[in-house]
Amino acid sequence: MSAPPSLPPPSSWPDLADPDLYADGDPYAAWHTLREHAPVHWQPAGDGLGFWSVTRYADVERVLADHASFTSERGTLLGLLGRHDPAGGRQMAVTDPPRHDRMRAPLHRALRLRSAEAHSEEIRAGIRELLPETDGAERSFDLSAVCAQLPLVVLGPLLGLPARDRPHLVRLALMCAAEDDPEHQLPEGPEATLERGHRELFAYFADLVRDRRRRPRAGDGGDLVDVLLTMEVDGARLTPGEVLSNCYSLLLGASVTLAHVPPATVLELTRTGRHHDWAGRPELLDSGVEEALRWASPARHFMRHARRPLDLAGVPVAAGDPVVAWLGSANRDGAVFARPDTFDPARRPNRHLAFGAGPHYCAGAGIARVTLRLFFAELFARYAEIEVTGPPRRARSTFLSGITRLPVRVRPRQKEVAR
Ligand code: HEM
Repeated sequence: MSAPPSLPPPSSWPDLADPDLYADGDPYAAWHTLREHAPVHWQPAGDGLGFWSVTRYADVERVLADHASFTSERGTLLGLLGRHDPAGGRQMAVTDPPRHDRMRAPLHRALRLRSAEAHSEEIRAGIRELLPETDGAERSFDLSAVCAQLPLVVLGPLLGLPARDRPHLVRLALMCAAEDDPEHQLPEGPEATLERGHRELFAYFADLVRDRRRRPRAGDGGDLVDVLLTMEVDGARLTPGEVLSNCYSLLLGASVTLAHVPPATVLELTRTGRHHDWAGRPELLDSGVEEALRWASPARHFMRHARRPLDLAGVPVAAGDPVVAWLGSANRDGAVFARPDTFDPARRPNRHLAFGAGPHYCAGAGIARVTLRLFFAELFARYAEIEVTGPPRRARSTFLSGITRLPVRVRPRQKEVAR
C-alpha cells in the first residue's frame, strides 16, 4: 500500500512482526530502511489483518500524542492485533482522554509524592543488596538476572508487595510481555503463556486488593493500591476489575522496562571500550541516564488505531487501521539525533521518546529516572571495570527490547581490595 517506487523492493521489506528479527537479526537496520524508503509502511499480517508502521521521530511522536486522531482503547501492543482488548476504557494505559486524564491525575500525584526522592534511601539500599559484593576479588555474574529484580526494588514499596513474592511477579510479568521468548514461554506455546501470566497476576492482585480492603491504609501510610481503591473518576469509585487492571498495568509498565536499560548500556560501553567516558565523570550521571534510555528504548513500540480517515505524512490511513509507532526507531532517527548510533553520555539536548509522548507519557518516568541514576552511580562506584565474558542473549519479542542474559566479570575498586 505505502511502498514508494524506491529501494528495496517490497518483497524484501523487513517483517517487523517477526520476533526473530529482534532475537537474531538487526532491527536497527530494518528501521533505518523503513525510515529512508517507507516511513509510513503497511505490513500485511495474515487473516486479512495488517498494520501501518511509523519509524520516523516526527511521525512516532504524532501518533502517540494525537489522541484525537488515534485511540489507545483498542489495544496498544502489536500482540493484540485483531483482538479485542478487554481493558480498553477501564485501565489507564488503554483509556483515551478525557476519562484517561481523570484516572491519571490521582495516580500521578501519588507517584510524584511517593516518587524517588521520598523513597530514594529505600531504593538505594535495595540496589546495594542486588549488586553482588566483590569482597576485593574479581567476580562473575549475569547482569541481566541481577537487573531483572530492579523494578521490584521500586514497585515493591510503591504497591506494598511483600519481598518474598517479587521474583514470582517478575516472572509472571515477563510471561505477559514477552510471551514469544523461549526463556519465559510455557511448553504449550505463546497464547497459553500469555493467558497463564494474565490469569495468575490478576489472581495475585485480587488477593492483595481483598486483603487491602479489609485493612485500608490511608494518608501517608497508603500506597498506590490504596490510591486506586479510594480514587473517584466521574463521581464513582473504580470497580474491583478496574482496580485489578490498573495494578496489573503498573506492575507490567515498570517490570518489563526498567530492568533492560542497564544491560543494554553496559554492553555498548564495554563493546566500544568507553566505560570510563561515563563511569569516570559523575557530572554526566543525569545526561548519561537519558542517553541510556534513548539507547535501550526498552519498549520497542506502542500501537494505536486511527479514529477516522486521515493523512499520515502524506499517506492516506483508513478509519480503524492499526498504526504501530516504533519508539526504538524514532530514538535512532538521524534527523533528530546527531550520530544516532553512538552512545554519548554527554548528549544534550536529548529529547528521546523512550517514555512515549502526549497524554500517555510514562507515569513512572520520574521514578524510573531516579532509580536509574541510583543504579548507575552504585554500579560505577562499586566496580572499577566491567567486562562482558560471553555472548548476550536478546529477548525474542516485538515489544520488549531486552538482553536477557549478559555474563560479566567485574573488578573491584582499589579501596575495596585494600580493606
Ligand atoms: C525505563 C523504564 C520505563 C520505560 C522505558 C517506560 C515506557 C513507557 C512508555 C513508552 C509509555 C507510553 C505508552 C503509550 O503511549 O501507550 C509508558 C506508560 C506508562 N508507564 Fe512506563 N516506562 C518505564 C517505567 C515505568 C515505571 C517504573 C512505572 C510505574 C511506576 C511505569 C508505569 C507506566 C504507566 C502506568 C503507563 C501508562 C500511562 C498512561 O496511560 O497515562 N512505567 N511507559
